[in-house]
Amino acid sequence: MASSPQPFVAHKISDSVYWVGAIDWSLTDFHGYKTDRGSTYNAFLIIADTITLIDTVKKPFKDEMLCRIASVIDPERIQYIVSNHSEMDHSGCLPEIIETVKPEKVFASANGVKALQAHFHDVSSIEAVENGGTISLGNMTLTCLETRMIHWPDSMVSYLAEEKILFAQDAFGMHLATSKLFADENDRAIMKWEATKYYANIVMPYSAIVGKTLEALLSLNLDIGIIAPDHGPLWRTPEDIAWILEMYQGFVARKPTNKVVIVYDTMWHSTELMARAVAEGVRVAGSEAKVMPMSGAHRSDVITEIIDAGALIAGSTTMNSGIFPSMADVLTYIRGLQPKNLIGALFGSYGWNKKAFKELDDYLNAIGVEQVAEPVTVNYVPTREDLLDCFSLGKRVAETLRERCAG
Ligand code: FEO
Repeated sequence: MASSPQPFVAHKISDSVYWVGAIDWSLTDFHGYKTDRGSTYNAFLIIADTITLIDTVKKPFKDEMLCRIASVIDPERIQYIVSNHSEMDHSGCLPEIIETVKPEKVFASANGVKALQAHFHDVSSIEAVENGGTISLGNMTLTCLETRMIHWPDSMVSYLAEEKILFAQDAFGMHLATSKLFADENDRAIMKWEATKYYANIVMPYSAIVGKTLEALLSLNLDIGIIAPDHGPLWRTPEDIAWILEMYQGFVARKPTNKVVIVYDTMWHSTELMARAVAEGVRVAGSEAKVMPMSGAHRSDVITEIIDAGALIAGSTTMNSGIFPSMADVLTYIRGLQPKNLIGALFGSYGWNKKAFKELDDYLNAIGVEQVAEPVTVNYVPTREDLLDCFSLGKRVAETLRERCAG
């Protein structure tokens, strides 16, 4: 059976390759990461002698993907499936697709085989492809390159030399639902924010590995015409490919800038008043203050602001003998994502004990923030002198940051 009319159709991206993924316009939360602009789950169909599907999609989007495939060929003609990454947004419907398509072979990295088995338990006979190994598609060849811990142990990319396409799984991606498939068709400022947000929230803990892997990939001198990630737009112009590669090199280096993120929460506005005075000290010292009250800010936006900041100042009121819950949330999240090269300080208000500040201090130490100003803590409501101390705290952090950025 050949192709048939479908409500969802494939998008041709090169002579023999089609995008057959799904657009998730309504995604607002990706395991704790706020996805204001939805996402896409990209999958690709290679019409080679051996018809091959690269990755699948999140389980609820299986039919959308099958329709897109059916707009080109009968899905049962797929002979190979390559799973570049076993996280459920790319593998969720894999068992059902295997059941429907009955491919001759399914490939994953050695760790991918283990991860898929641990997820689905009854997916047997997935073949492991070794790092640098090739899969012959007859008239074309896929080369598989492991990218362990970008961002899971199973992660790999695959390169189709004949069409100059690097299927990059999560690398170089972003959560952005768009009907415009290519980066050059989309708004640059939005892509810059979303690619940064994706890296900060998903990839940042593995920056050292990203640096080495990027270097290794670039040393192969692959002729790349398209970078096709598993989320968001595809990069197809030399300028865009250079743009996203340079962005990643910048993320890896994470050179501090004169930007200070001030994150806080408050009960009766005392800590809020203090945060405002801290920000004023930062501003007067000539740095940018990004003030993020946790009553409204989301943890995934805070870490996105931190990725190019040089300082993190944290403030909390004391509640029930401890840190305010929203501050524990955001600081736990930041601690896990391991931003490097931060200086900072802490502040806050209290009633009858100061235990919150020990917790704040522990969090900042665990994140690796070098505290360059004495904490300012205030009983109940700040006086004018207390606010001057907060101003000085902000000024001190900003001045230290400026010296380091200049050095
Ligand atoms: Fe898009 Fe790691 O999954």
